[in-house]
Amino acid sequence: MCGIVGFAGKRNAKDILLQGLQRLEYRGYDSAGIAIQNGEQTTVIKASGRLQSLMEKAKHEIQGTLGIGHTRWATHGKPTEENAHPHQSADGSVTLVHNGIIENERELRAFLMQNGFSFSSETDTEAAANLLAYHYQKTGSPLKALTEALHMIHGSYALVILFKGCPDVIFTAKKESPLIIGMGAEETFIASDVPAILPYTRRIYDMESGEIAEVGRGSVHFYDKNGDHIEKTPTEITWNIDSAEKDGFDHFMMKEIHEQPKAVRNTLYAYLKNGNIDFSKANLTESTLKSIQKLHIIGCGSAYHVGMTAGYVIEDIARIPVRVEYASEFRYRHPVFGEHELAVMISQSGETADSLSALREAKAHGVPTLAIVNVVGSSIAREADHVLYTHAGPEIAVATTKAYSAQLAVCYLLAVALGHAKGAFCDAKYQVFLDEIQKLPEKIEQILEKKDSLRVLSAHLASLETLFLIGRGVDFSTALEGALKIKEISYIHAEAYAAGELKHGTISLIEKETPVLGVLTQKNLFPKTLSNMREVKSRGAYLIGIATEGFDVENTVDEVFYIPETLRPFAPSLSVIPLQLLGYYIGTMRGLDVDKPRNLAKSVTVE
Ligand code: G6P
Repeated sequence: MCGIVGFAGKRNAKDILLQGLQRLEYRGYDSAGIAIQNGEQTTVIKASGRLQSLMEKAKHEIQGTLGIGHTRWATHGKPTEENAHPHQSADGSVTLVHNGIIENERELRAFLMQNGFSFSSETDTEAAANLLAYHYQKTGSPLKALTEALHMIHGSYALVILFKGCPDVIFTAKKESPLIIGMGAEETFIASDVPAILPYTRRIYDMESGEIAEVGRGSVHFYDKNGDHIEKTPTEITWNIDSAEKDGFDHFMMKEIHEQPKAVRNTLYAYLKNGNIDFSKANLTESTLKSIQKLHIIGCGSAYHVGMTAGYVIEDIARIPVRVEYASEFRYRHPVFGEHELAVMISQSGETADSLSALREAKAHGVPTLAIVNVVGSSIAREADHVLYTHAGPEIAVATTKAYSAQLAVCYLLAVALGHAKGAFCDAKYQVFLDEIQKLPEKIEQILEKKDSLRVLSAHLASLETLFLIGRGVDFSTALEGALKIKEISYIHAEAYAAGELKHGTISLIEKETPVLGVLTQKNLFPKTLSNMREVKSRGAYLIGIATEGFDVENTVDEVFYIPETLRPFAPSLSVIPLQLLGYYIGTMRGLDVDKPRNLAKSVTVE
């Protein structure tokens, strides 16, 4: 996600802010900015693109020993200079940077516009700047303005704020998004991530949700959300810079696996308004959805597996035919299109050459296009007619995990929205679906808490050279994704099959101790998959089950990992997690660089 730095001390703020932002570059960003306070003067400098552009623009001397900085990964609005942080309120009294998502941005904008505030960017952050200014005008106190404004803001935030008339302090507020305050001698540092301030101090306060801080030069006072003073104790950071970049995890992949609940939650936040799906950001109205007669879902690699799952789910609950295809096949297949069809491109990067060409192919045939993309302003996002962004944040490990989960979340919402628009199920069922989708982040957390039990199993598999994965329906698409994960990062030959296909050839590869992993999450299908597993067991296979709690599989399989119960269509969000972890553990046990597997690229921009 975005990066935040802040500094209040006696040294020149510009250099410290820019160095801090440089140390956050590894997280990915598409624009950056700083604001420096010098008495009553606030200098704001912003640039789109690399940090180097910001440094060029800030080359001249800027006086001031207190300031804030930000690297932005676009979520609301394109990665332009206007949308870059810091943002200022229309009256110039508030300058701030923000990480997180303000969910009720539209309501706040409307309220503020009625009260005479104008907006110059497309960001949700500007609503926070103007809201704080509104309350600052009324109360004359930054702390009171904060407590009033925070009661009105829904969503997640780490806010770092300069108020006009308060040249010696920086205010911060946090809900969910990380924010730390580091103490030095007569200087104080603020950051979203430890690496930004590690060269200066190891004594830090970790802010908790609902807390506000008033940061001076070498001092800090904490308040609760009502403005009452609270005491906090600092801790010493013992990490080195390498592990700090990974939030204490050994690899980005493991860090990103653990970021999945947040990635799914943020993605759902973006499209759920007052208990309903709201795709207005993508200009997808209920009547557009209602008119769709068929979908073509297209992607590469893991994105294709999401598409395959989406195909099963949309046909199952919305009763609309879906054709799912690899982008590299689609573009040369001379596809046949009819009236009222929609082509859906799924891509984390939004730059994959095959997916981009497939999008152009669909457009050339006059077919409306929808992109499900993680990177705002990417080529696919720019060229598609409609865009539903995933809010996974930048993904650094080559093997996708959190973007995959965020894509699944968007696809479930799309399936439910389509089914609802088409009248494929009643309103009560619509609510049941939405309630269950919102429970997925918590259920993913429950799986992550049990991750250690997968280590022992991984140790067994790490010494083998082959693994089969089987499943039916959505369990088959999850098996395909699991096999891809294991192959790409552990270099073990892992092959996924539709469970019913084993007997049509593959079974000849089964010998004593060949591991066969069954994905068993579908109540109506798991007895069938289980009987396919028995067929291979009688030929010596070693059976592993990834099964929904309560399914009676223990008498058949040798090892089982249970995932929480959920509604049938949404089980892939849970069953994929142990498979990602298996891939990670096996890869690391084999001594491989799981973040950068050989021969693979994060974004493949050639055909
Ligand atoms: C590469 C990556 C895969 C990814 C695929 C599609 O092959 O290694 O992890 O699934 O590209 O990427 P996209 O950015 O379009 O989702």
